[in-house]
Amino acid sequence: MPSRAPSYGLFIGGKWVAPTGAKRFESVNPSTREPVGSFVQGTAADVGRSVGAAEQAFRGWKETPAPKRGEILLEVARLMKRRKDDLGRLVSTEMGKVISEGLGEVQESIDFIEYMAGEGRRLFGETVPSELRSKFCLTVRQAKGVVVCISPWNFPTAIPNWKIAAALITGNSVVFKPASATARCGAEVVKIYEEGGVPPGVLNFVTGSGGVVGNALIEDPRVRTVSFTGGVETGREVYVRGAKGLKMVHLELGGKNPVIVMDDADLDLALDGVLFGAFGTAGQRCTATSRLIVQAKVYDGFLRRLTERLEDFPVGDPLDPKTAMGPVASADQEKKILEYIAIGKKEAKLRVGGEKLTGGAYDRGYFLEPTIFETKHGSRISKEEIFGPVLSVIRVADYAEAVRVANDVEYGLSSAIYTRDVNRAFRAIDDLEAGITYINAPTIGAEVQLPFGGVKNTGNGGREAGSAAIEEFTEIKSVFVDFSSKLQKAQIDSETAA
Ligand code: UN1
Repeated sequence: MPSRAPSYGLFIGGKWVAPTGAKRFESVNPSTREPVGSFVQGTAADVGRSVGAAEQAFRGWKETPAPKRGEILLEVARLMKRRKDDLGRLVSTEMGKVISEGLGEVQESIDFIEYMAGEGRRLFGETVPSELRSKFCLTVRQAKGVVVCISPWNFPTAIPNWKIAAALITGNSVVFKPASATARCGAEVVKIYEEGGVPPGVLNFVTGSGGVVGNALIEDPRVRTVSFTGGVETGREVYVRGAKGLKMVHLELGGKNPVIVMDDADLDLALDGVLFGAFGTAGQRCTATSRLIVQAKVYDGFLRRLTERLEDFPVGDPLDPKTAMGPVASADQEKKILEYIAIGKKEAKLRVGGEKLTGGAYDRGYFLEPTIFETKHGSRISKEEIFGPVLSVIRVADYAEAVRVANDVEYGLSSAIYTRDVNRAFRAIDDLEAGITYINAPTIGAEVQLPFGGVKNTGNGGREAGSAAIEEFTEIKSVFVDFSSKLQKAQIDSETAA
């Protein structure tokens, strides 16, 4: 029986086109297992066409004045505001996060597109003095060409927009491949850019597997930059493939983000922050709180209050505003998280949760209990990224031990400390090995006007969002203008210059 889910083509050269192959796949509502959309299983030939369209459109877009590109982005932001409710509901339906967070991530998309639209009147370079007379030195930022944006399922509108809006304002043309599990969110985002007036070929959309479509995109010699957000193993592969073509590969990968709660913390505040950080988005954020490191004196009381709060933590339909946590995003996610819970049950002490939810509507979807383990630093659940609603709690004696534990993992995306001691708070900014540190706030919820990314295996040194987004998608050109009308030799003439 043909699916009732809406069917999408590929968006290439400004048109929704038929694919070269006949194969299709569906995305699925993780609350009900019903299909949400039907998409093209793209081929290498589809990739070739999309990169060709992007290459053709590049020059015209690059030559469009940046403020004009910004105007188009503002229109995209305006349309997205109008569709915020529908798009937010779609995020919750296709990915499973609760509706407040679905709407929140659409807002994050709007915020970022507006921020980038403003960049159209900035795109700052530098002017610096010359060592010679009658010579002017400056830098300009130039578009790279065709860039590829490969996005994950956990932020199916915000992360694509972080990439697309930044790539477009800087004058690049884009081929966008969404995660297959949330391809309808991706397609709806692309439709808004189309309606906002992005010229044909400037933004193209190809769906399909990482192994076929993703690899063909990364390996296409016409592609100069790849921006990828996803798991660390895939990221490593993307990096290696891109390296063969000497491409810039921008990676945003995993996290094992700690919250440190010191004896002197405001414990009510910390409690709210830990609950939101660990179980918001069912723990499926790169920034999710997956480790809670608590100082000995407040440890027992804090853990008791935390587990009490989970007794009354509504898990269910993400579209119901009373729900605190929806399903996890897919069958694969559920399987992987349950495997980690099984590991935790062997190596650590289960404090709360630990089961798949069953009965009634739960049986139709991928619902898990929010889960807390008490564990020792060094256990697998305390060190490996789980990407689910599983929190490992670790007792420490003092600040020095807290920092040592916090830093002793392979990732370094987000981190947080709750303390009332201002000196210690500033100390932690220096000490925590992470791209993001929060003081008295949870590990999630970064704002778009600051750079986003991390250290160690969280990436390869780059950042997206904020001012860093411009660096991600531009080449810097250094320009020397000599208006002396004679040959001047840098490093040589300056010593003898009159
Ligand atoms: C992610 O999970 O990869 O800081 C992105 C946050 C969000 C973005 C998360 N603004 O939690």
